[in-house]
Amino acid sequence: MPKYKYNPPTRTHCAVCEKLRLTDDKPIIESTKGKASSASNYPIHNWYYFVLGYTPEFPNYIIETEKINSSHIVVDPFMGTGTTLIECKKRGIKSVGIDANDYFFDVVSAKTNWGINLNELENSIKELRVEVNNQIFLIEKQEDDEKSSDFLFSDSKNNWLKYGFGKRPKMLDERYVSDVPLAKLLLLKEVIGFLGVDVNIKNLLKLALFAVVVPNSNVKYGPGFGISKAKLDSDVFGSFFRKLDRILSDYKVAKTHYVNGDSLVLHGDARELDTLLEAETIDQMITSPPYPGDHEYTKHTRLELIFADYAVSKEEFRTIKKRMIRGSTTNIYRGDEDKLLVADIESISCVTKLIQTRLDSDGATSGFEKLYTKLVWEYFGGMFKVFKASLKALKPGGKFHLLVSDSHAFKMVHIETAKILGEVAIKAGYSSFSVRLWQNKSSTSHGYDLREDILTLVK
Ligand SMILES: C[S@@+](CC[C@H](N)C(=O)[O-])C[C@H]1O[C@@H](n2cnc3c(N)ncnc32)[C@H](O)[C@@H]1O
Repeated sequence: MPKYKYNPPTRTHCAVCEKLRLTDDKPIIESTKGKASSASNYPIHNWYYFVLGYTPEFPNYIIETEKINSSHIVVDPFMGTGTTLIECKKRGIKSVGIDANDYFFDVVSAKTNWGINLNELENSIKELRVEVNNQIFLIEKQEDDEKSSDFLFSDSKNNWLKYGFGKRPKMLDERYVSDVPLAKLLLLKEVIGFLGVDVNIKNLLKLALFAVVVPNSNVKYGPGFGISKAKLDSDVFGSFFRKLDRILSDYKVAKTHYVNGDSLVLHGDARELDTLLEAETIDQMITSPPYPGDHEYTKHTRLELIFADYAVSKEEFRTIKKRMIRGSTTNIYRGDEDKLLVADIESISCVTKLIQTRLDSDGATSGFEKLYTKLVWEYFGGMFKVFKASLKALKPGGKFHLLVSDSHAFKMVHIETAKILGEVAIKAGYSSFSVRLWQNKSSTSHGYDLREDILTLVK
């Protein structure tokens, strides 16, 4: 008999999935509506697409079922691209967002600043258009003078740098973005930089630019980080100005139809949110935190972080990653010891023992695989800290709603994320928790749908 291998983990039988399939839980939302990509159908949310984001339907559902109104304050401690904040803002609800990723701080600050004068914004976009066209004209004219059809961008020696639009950033590999699209992106960056406009408008222009970096690159953010066929040229200027048109028309809608509740954007570590928020001031928390799915949360903004100069070296990436909940084997460090905070929780022991048994039976030797159990412990330990800190910030009776998926990422061991997080929260001091099935998510690695649940904690 050949020895049974759990790796690769495809189409393997899962006893927990079989058991869950027999429950008659009805999902609150159909899986077609629950995808992160469905956010592209919503104004403002679609200014910047984040593959690990979520649909605005989730914060809406909580706002409606909890009857949250303008007398309440809502916090999203893992705000990502600010889905919760925007939905609160539209209804005049005060909201606060926290994220460990520097880049998201700027993205959400720009998305939630609805105080810009519309005429000024329109005029700035016109001015930018003229300036960009001037630059292109000058470059093309020079190209003619040089009588070379491929002088400008296609030279692998980066001849276009002669025009002073910056250098290829060291970490922005040519496999990620080809020369010509990068030259055009750098030109836009430079022109936005010297445009004499209000800083809030400039931030919106930058947001539009950052939003078109990946679509004009060779990179595909899936659940992973993929590189596809090189785009040697691309309609960078067209996509950028279309994005700005979109932003402008949504901005008009926001100004005339939405209430514009106050929002505050903070940069920090959710495990220390009690140091950022006043004690007992928050009514509800609504978030989609990292989950134990082996996702490294800087990966899905890697190009933007480099292009926009937030992280230009491995060390700077490491600094950002260290502020994050441990969610991936590439984000575990010597000295991490949040495990100790949850070491007595039986269900985490069961999961990690099963992962270890399967690693042993496979004879797994890779460095990453060896970190699987440590990662699962550190993930739940980190979330324990978030729960402890959130208890201080919430008012008595306040609630914390988390959207989390089950996981099969480690040797196909089924991790019932919401249920285990509920136990972790009780240990941290919450009085009760409930789990509702939000949607069934199809998984590429096996034949079962995985649950995505709303975990609600009550202080
Ligand atoms: C699943 S995403 C949230 C998506 C978000 N709901 C949206 O609409 O875009 C998780 C977020 O948590 C952030 N994050 C991870 N660890 C964190 C920490 N310790 N403190 C604050 N944010 C963190 C990541 O940067 C990422 O933006």
